[in-house]
Amino acid sequence: MTPPGPTPLIAPSILAADFARLADAAAAVDDKADWLHVDVMDNHFVPNLTIGLPVVTSLRKATGLPLDCHLMIDDPDRWAPPYAEQGAHNVTFHVEAAADPAGTARAIRSAGALAGLAIKPGTPLEPYLDLLRGFDTLLVMTVEPGFGGQAFRTDVLPKVREARRRVQSGHLRLHIEVDGGIDADTIEAAAEAGADVFVAGSAVYGADDPATAIDALRARAAVG
Ligand code: DX5
Ligand code: ZN
Repeated sequence: MTPPGPTPLIAPSILAADFARLADAAAAVDDKADWLHVDVMDNHFVPNLTIGLPVVTSLRKATGLPLDCHLMIDDPDRWAPPYAEQGAHNVTFHVEAAADPAGTARAIRSAGALAGLAIKPGTPLEPYLDLLRGFDTLLVMTVEPGFGGQAFRTDVLPKVREARRRVQSGHLRLHIEVDGGIDADTIEAAAEAGADVFVAGSAVYGADDPATAIDALRARAAVG
């Protein structure tokens, strides 16, 4: 008998919400979402600029949802731990931008959050398999980071599969998160490959009813 798969977690991304009404965006999903995904972009690591620490501090007070901060920024070694200090549940930074990813993960964990490592579509997983033993989350980008509304890339799914295999064999113990282009049509392939945390921006906040959209995603993820 196949062991039961991990319980899927759905993380709506407020990148697709109205930035003037972030508290309302959180409230619209607070009884359905597992995590609230917060995309921090600095216009250096990616060619887009979004929000930063003060907004996370305010969001923390505005919602009880666990904040899943995805830092698409340069110098995460310096800037990531404060997100944990401000009460983020999970703080993910990009390996491509970090000088000391292991040390930064330790600092995030010491400040009380889960530590996540993100890899861009073109970044291989293999060199980081041992490093990932010091992390709680692996974020496999399923689009090039920087913008919402892009098409899901199936070519990155082998990395999700390999990570799941390492979790099943006991080498790693972490969430495997996918981010970018996740909707009711693509979530099943990501779940089947072994992802257990699903970020969805447009598919949730672009829907007439964000809460119903989450139900639909969850139902599809469960068959993976
Ligand atoms: C892209 C961000 C994503 C984005 C996903 O760089 O990391 O979290 O919000 O948006 P959708 O779900 O619209 O692809
Ligand atoms: Zn993201």
